[in-house]
Amino acid sequence: MSMQFDLFNETENDIFAAKDYHSFKDLVKRSNCAKCELHRGRRNIVIDRGDPSSRIMCIGEAPGENEDIKGSAFVGRAGKLLDDIMKSIDLDTEQDVLIANIVKCKPPGNRAPVRDEVSACMPYLQKQIDLIQPQVIVLLGAVALKHMIPEKGDFAMAEEAGKLFQSNQYPSVHFMVLYHPAYLLYDPRKKKDMWEHVKRLDQFLKETNIV
Ligand code: URA
Repeated sequence: MSMQFDLFNETENDIFAAKDYHSFKDLVKRSNCAKCELHRGRRNIVIDRGDPSSRIMCIGEAPGENEDIKGSAFVGRAGKLLDDIMKSIDLDTEQDVLIANIVKCKPPGNRAPVRDEVSACMPYLQKQIDLIQPQVIVLLGAVALKHMIPEKGDFAMAEEAGKLFQSNQYPSVHFMVLYHPAYLLYDPRKKKDMWEHVKRLDQFLKETNIV
């Protein structure tokens, strides 16, 4: 797992040395991070939503307007749909899952985060994963897949969604890719496929006794 050590930045060193999730979150929230341009337009650094003792993590793209205002991940329309999707397989997003994003600050105009922003923020997400030690990571949408698993290269979401796989970088984690809930709001015809993917996730979680 990549760690960053900066001789001249004590807050940052404390963040990467944090031994528990609560201290990590608190330090990042108070860090006033300015490692990328996204800090200029944010109201809050959005770390997560849910329970850090969960064995399941969901990773989305970036905070939107609602998340930026509330300082919590997936609290808008897409978040409500994510809650309903998880509830359909008896997962409570407050208790059974920890939800995070590829970047922790809202990009302007709802655009996807660019490579420099992702590179600046990724060590924080990796530290989060390190502290949570999830058994399953659900990647929500193409942006999450592209940045978490760069070795996928050029991929088609229609091929990847619903697939379980592992990655050398996170040997103890099982990954599943799902369509991003915002995409389902945009194209509800994808709901049928999504339901098949979510059922596969449920089956895997039960077979492996993860839930
Ligand atoms: N979309 C995301 O990818 N993340 C959020 O937190 C909210 C909407």
